[in-house]
Amino acid sequence: MPDKRTNLQSLLRDSSLLEGRAYIDGNWVEGMNGTFSVVNPARGDVIADVADLSREQVGDAVKQADVAQKEWADWTGKERSIVLRKWFQEIMENADDLAIILTAEQGKPQVEAKGEILYGASFIEFFGEEAKRVYGEIIPGHQRDKRIHVLKQPIGVVATITPWNFPNAMITRKIGPALASGCTVVARPAAETPLSATALAVLAERAGLPKGVLNILTSSNSSDVGKEFCTNPVVRKLSFTGSTEVGRLLLRQASDNVLKCSMELGGNAPFIVFEDADLDAAVEGAMICKFRNNGQTCVCANRIYVHENIYDQFAEKMKCAVEKLTVGDGLADRITIGPLINHDAVDKVLEHLGDVETKGGTVLTGGQRHSMGGNYFEPTVVTDVTHDMQIAHEETFGPVAPLFKFQHEQDVIDRANNTVFGLAAYFYARDNARIHRVSEALEYGIVGVNTGIISTEVAPFGGIKQSGLGREGSWHGMEDYLELKYICLSI
Ligand code: SIN
Repeated sequence: MPDKRTNLQSLLRDSSLLEGRAYIDGNWVEGMNGTFSVVNPARGDVIADVADLSREQVGDAVKQADVAQKEWADWTGKERSIVLRKWFQEIMENADDLAIILTAEQGKPQVEAKGEILYGASFIEFFGEEAKRVYGEIIPGHQRDKRIHVLKQPIGVVATITPWNFPNAMITRKIGPALASGCTVVARPAAETPLSATALAVLAERAGLPKGVLNILTSSNSSDVGKEFCTNPVVRKLSFTGSTEVGRLLLRQASDNVLKCSMELGGNAPFIVFEDADLDAAVEGAMICKFRNNGQTCVCANRIYVHENIYDQFAEKMKCAVEKLTVGDGLADRITIGPLINHDAVDKVLEHLGDVETKGGTVLTGGQRHSMGGNYFEPTVVTDVTHDMQIAHEETFGPVAPLFKFQHEQDVIDRANNTVFGLAAYFYARDNARIHRVSEALEYGIVGVNTGIISTEVAPFGGIKQSGLGREGSWHGMEDYLELKYICLSI
């Protein structure tokens, strides 16, 4: 356990945003299991000691959330919308501090952290507006004396489990629609990055969110919390973002209670560059898509397919662009690539690169642990990558751009679809007919055409196949927190 400490409070305009206690029923509470340390991945320093809740405390929080839900669901959509708007404003006013906390616990550079805070806030804003638009239906009766009304009602207590790669936005993407629709939430943030979550709760409290409506349950024991969420009969919905492996486990645990689940799971995104593409635009798109958050997003390009006629040119341009990236502590100026989250992440990158090199791939640039040591890794481009390599089948979740060569459109589509995952895919092309053909043929929940960035609160984010269940963002994101009730009236 590192013994060095970072004085993060001194970097904040409002140091009360740095909160190490959990938030249950409107109270800031200590953990019955003591505390766990949050470590800055850039420096290995401890940033804070955070309340380690016991399973019993998690169960209590669920009870409180249930009590609060009855009252919260009685509020009008407009009343809920007003509080969510205030919360959005608090987040915007404190965006700089929230970004500092985020970088300190997660590692991404300040510019990206600030981008995430704005992205995260957009879900509170968007769903706050949607709270007023939970429309039902009137269906013409099936008999002369019958009237059919369809209501949409909040599901009840929602449990969320969120990852460390987007410690702010993955939480607001779930909490926004849950609260807007009249559900209450018990949220377990990742143990690596709980401080962004508790800071959000500080601001929610200031905005006047009633007690019990949002509960932030910090814990080092993900398995205990997951079991409580899946087996406590009061929990009516689980929304999880994380790996497919953990998602499968949660789905199994949730099956006894027939718990409604949303799952945003792993990806293995193909990024295809056709020979008619605007090459510079494709390089720019690949850079952002691959190296955003140091390659640690579920929608990062994991397999870059380039047409054989432009392969060498593309590889050279990628190499030049990658060599311009600046690696370092995300809290320092002008840094574009931070550290990876921990040593295991570095090991995974090394494992994939070792496999690439053994099987005949070529490292064009990078390929090593960075000279700064710790969790830093050199941004890397590898060529001559083939389908027998591990990197073709598993998410690297790190700064490695593997370039595969292809000849024919149908062949690259088949290869792109040859995976159990189906979250995001991207391609660059100019030909109009090809754009339609390929968009329709790719078996993915999200397709980026001539763009490397697809995330926005106004669109439905989510995957097919083993990449997940349900959608987040847009009005579809509200539906995941609502139940339909059909009322058959005999008059
Ligand atoms: C993710 O990695 O799961 C989310 C990325 C995003 O929302 O852009």
